[in-house]
Amino acid sequence: MCGIVGYIGNKNCIPILINGLKRLEYRGYDSAGIAYLADGSSFVIKNKGKVSLLEEKLSHLNINSNLGIGHTRWATHGIPNEINAHPHFNEDKTLYVIHNGIIENYQTIRASLRKLGYNFITETDSETIPYLIDSFLKKGFPLCKSVQLALNEIEGTYGLAVIYLNEPDKIIAARKGSPLILGIGENENFVASDVSAILAHTKQVVYLEDGEMAVVYKDHFVVKTIEDVEIKKEITEITMSLEEIDKGGYPHFMLKEIMEQPDSVQNSMRGRLIYEEGTAKLGGLEGYIDRIVNSKRIIISACGTSWHAGLVGEYMLEQFTRIPTEVEYASEFRYRNPIISKDDTIIFISQSGETADTLAAMREAKRKGALALGICNVVGSSIARESMTGIYTHAGPEIGVASTKAFSSQLIVLALITLLIARKKDMSLVDGQGIVEEMTKLPDKIRQILKLNSEIEAIAEKFKSATNFLYLGRGYNFPVALEGALKLKEISYIHAEGYPAAEMKHGPIALIDDNMPTVFIAPKDSTYDKIISNIEETKARKGVIIGIASENDDNIDRLVDYSIKIPDTIRMLMPILTVIPLQLLAYHIAVKKGLNVDQPRNLAKSVTVE
Ligand code: F6R
Repeated sequence: MCGIVGYIGNKNCIPILINGLKRLEYRGYDSAGIAYLADGSSFVIKNKGKVSLLEEKLSHLNINSNLGIGHTRWATHGIPNEINAHPHFNEDKTLYVIHNGIIENYQTIRASLRKLGYNFITETDSETIPYLIDSFLKKGFPLCKSVQLALNEIEGTYGLAVIYLNEPDKIIAARKGSPLILGIGENENFVASDVSAILAHTKQVVYLEDGEMAVVYKDHFVVKTIEDVEIKKEITEITMSLEEIDKGGYPHFMLKEIMEQPDSVQNSMRGRLIYEEGTAKLGGLEGYIDRIVNSKRIIISACGTSWHAGLVGEYMLEQFTRIPTEVEYASEFRYRNPIISKDDTIIFISQSGETADTLAAMREAKRKGALALGICNVVGSSIARESMTGIYTHAGPEIGVASTKAFSSQLIVLALITLLIARKKDMSLVDGQGIVEEMTKLPDKIRQILKLNSEIEAIAEKFKSATNFLYLGRGYNFPVALEGALKLKEISYIHAEGYPAAEMKHGPIALIDDNMPTVFIAPKDSTYDKIISNIEETKARKGVIIGIASENDDNIDRLVDYSIKIPDTIRMLMPILTVIPLQLLAYHIAVKKGLNVDQPRNLAKSVTVE
């Protein structure tokens, strides 16, 4: 989703802004632009499409500027084009604003600004901001006060950065519902929506909270509320390195992140398993464990892939802890006035920790008195900071827009929570130790599956022209069917549906013919015989079948057209293995179609709007 980077200091800001914007490309965008001050004048350059295009335009201009802001836009209001791209500006082009989020009352603000003589040139909600600030500047207020007055009139969400030719010593940044950080350097400071944009320059950051704004000078900064109350902020040191967010020799981040899973899964478990006690140790839950164990109900709320992880979590938690568990789309949960009690634990899962719906659902759950537990990957993200208790997945930075390693790590964390609660309830030591043992074997089993990469690539070649896919699984592997279908559709643009295999007979079977590939997730578990019947039914209708099967299953080969054989583990952990061939299949199909796997069309890595 939209990205922000800003620089003030002694260096030329142009390469810093361009490199920062390139680092933000993974979030998904459709246009890019920068504004900067130089030689007592201000300039804005923007275009539809890639940051590299912007870079090319700028390379002809020989600019030397010490203050600028840059933006990648992901269209919400108005088509992706040069005019709608940020920065937006006032009529005399002295004031520039970049904005992430949505101004909900922009029509009302537009109407009142029109009466003051302002003419809008874009279709965006964001353009109201520079005009609104300008209306206060014209009344004689200084920049900071004008921004505060403007923000008081705005309803909706924003992460924004503002520069002004008449006050060329500062960037103003403000946040409500859209992440924003300050990067603190020596005689230089940065503003960014994401640490990756500034990591090359500093690891010292300040996280702005909702309702806060910062006045950023080159050698110091001041943070205050929108109501002008000064706040003392802590500087946090980022532990992530630049190498961690590079491609490391892989053609795409997505492939790199799929291949990293033996390590990311290992990192999610590191120091958290105690074999002797057959349980898990989760420092992040300290002080809340009794409340969690005694919960009358667990609700898991998330979006997209994280929601699929939640579905697997439901199966784990109900099987082993016997606590009734429900899974809710965060977007539905937040708006339907859910019944929540103080005895509920609500788990919010989010890779980015910034997903607007999940964050809002968490705030609602807290307001209603439930225990809000966050499972996040991005350290210091909003959900991580605002949850009452939580666990980091430690999967490392996930840059590819399609989530892969974050999913397997979320499953690990859910398994750890399940183990911890179950052992505090009535799971035996031996059963707990059995789970610990199986968990420790996972990284090697994932390695074994990743060796099938070329085999899966060859299967992908056969299916690159398919237009529809069906994914079917049972029990723990039903959510994996949903996840496999989501991976395929989001990066290859092939329509795909996931279903519980038994549901096939209730409708989707009508689709099956010799043009319709069906992926069956059919490891040898307690549902195996049933799923074999479903495979037979598909075969009888000339369906083309890819089977994800257990390595010792020779029986399945007579039924399926292609089989991918993987090692077994206990049922609750099986999704961590079965999802991997599906990630690779989706990846290779998309690559064979010549698509940009890391930046699929219309998608954003961090969905910070509703
Ligand atoms: C799919 C994908 C999305 C995210 C969803 C939630 O590959 O990446 O479906 O899972 O937008 O994002 P997080 O986990 O950051 O809250």
